[in-house]
Amino acid sequence: MEFKEGLQTYQQIINQELEKYLRKENGLEKVLNESIKYSLMAGGKRLRPILVLATYALLSDKPYDSCMPYAVAIEMVHNFSLIHDDLPGIDNDDFRHGKPTNHKQFNEATAILAGDSLLNYAYIVISQDIQNTVDIDEKQLKIQIFNEFSKSVDKMIVGEYVDTEYEGKKITIEDLEYIHKNKTGALLTLCVRMGAMLAKCSQEDLENLTKYSEKIGLAFQVKDDILSEEGDAKILGKPVGNDKERQKCTYVSQYGLAGAKDILDTLTEDAINCLERYGERATFLKQLATYIANRNK
Ligand code: IPE
Ligand code: IPE
Ligand code: MG
Ligand code: MG
Repeated sequence: MEFKEGLQTYQQIINQELEKYLRKENGLEKVLNESIKYSLMAGGKRLRPILVLATYALLSDKPYDSCMPYAVAIEMVHNFSLIHDDLPGIDNDDFRHGKPTNHKQFNEATAILAGDSLLNYAYIVISQDIQNTVDIDEKQLKIQIFNEFSKSVDKMIVGEYVDTEYEGKKITIEDLEYIHKNKTGALLTLCVRMGAMLAKCSQEDLENLTKYSEKIGLAFQVKDDILSEEGDAKILGKPVGNDKERQKCTYVSQYGLAGAKDILDTLTEDAINCLERYGERATFLKQLATYIANRNK
């Protein structure tokens, strides 16, 4: 299967699955439910759940049903982070996925609560799955994953805080890396590790795939910085030039556009090298690393 088809198939599977979890009540909270749907189904790339499923498929021949709650939950957390990231108190952005941001379409209170709801829903989904798991070893593994999940969300929040707090201030390269590793890297690493752990991989595979995830995690944010500098806002669906406007410290501001692109190339190459040992089976994950580097949205 061509990479693009594979990507679209995964996206369709994830979208169908997410639909199932949308609250449909038409009571007093109707608008809250609409605002959750508005953001969650707005056309994100679904990179995080794809990483969970594709990593599982790399290591296991079983259907990826056991991963689904974790794939869905991470996408919920991601969308919570985007809704709150766009709020006036954080990035104050008006567009996301080619549409007004949640607080622009609804209002700030609704956007804050839609984000809260998505974050909490992720924990409902995972804890429910653990509760439904009968096999004791499987249950124990899932509790361990749940713990790692919540710690990774915590890292993302820390990264968002430091990123916001240090806007317009001079920071070191180490600080910049710290922001990126937490803000973006933590969730991407979590996704790969969850897929691997659910496939009951060896410690060696877990360590190796963690390395892959760290490379693509950083590459993803470096590319985000590049796109904020030279992307096409229409294709991106979100503003361009806003990092510069807010004097954000990014890979582009630190290394220049050409420097950031060199770093991106090296990270992508390193990520692909981590997968050599898996041969053809790793084709999709290798192509995903290239896609992250070449994406225009
Ligand atoms: C954007 O993430 C925000 C960052 C963490 C840099 P994505 O580009 O993965 O968001 P969508 O869901 O595909 O829009
Ligand atoms: C968003 O980071 C990251 C999180 C929400 C964790 P950015 O602010 O850099 O991403 P965009 O450019 O708004 O998507
Ligand atoms: Mg931000
Ligand atoms: Mg932002």
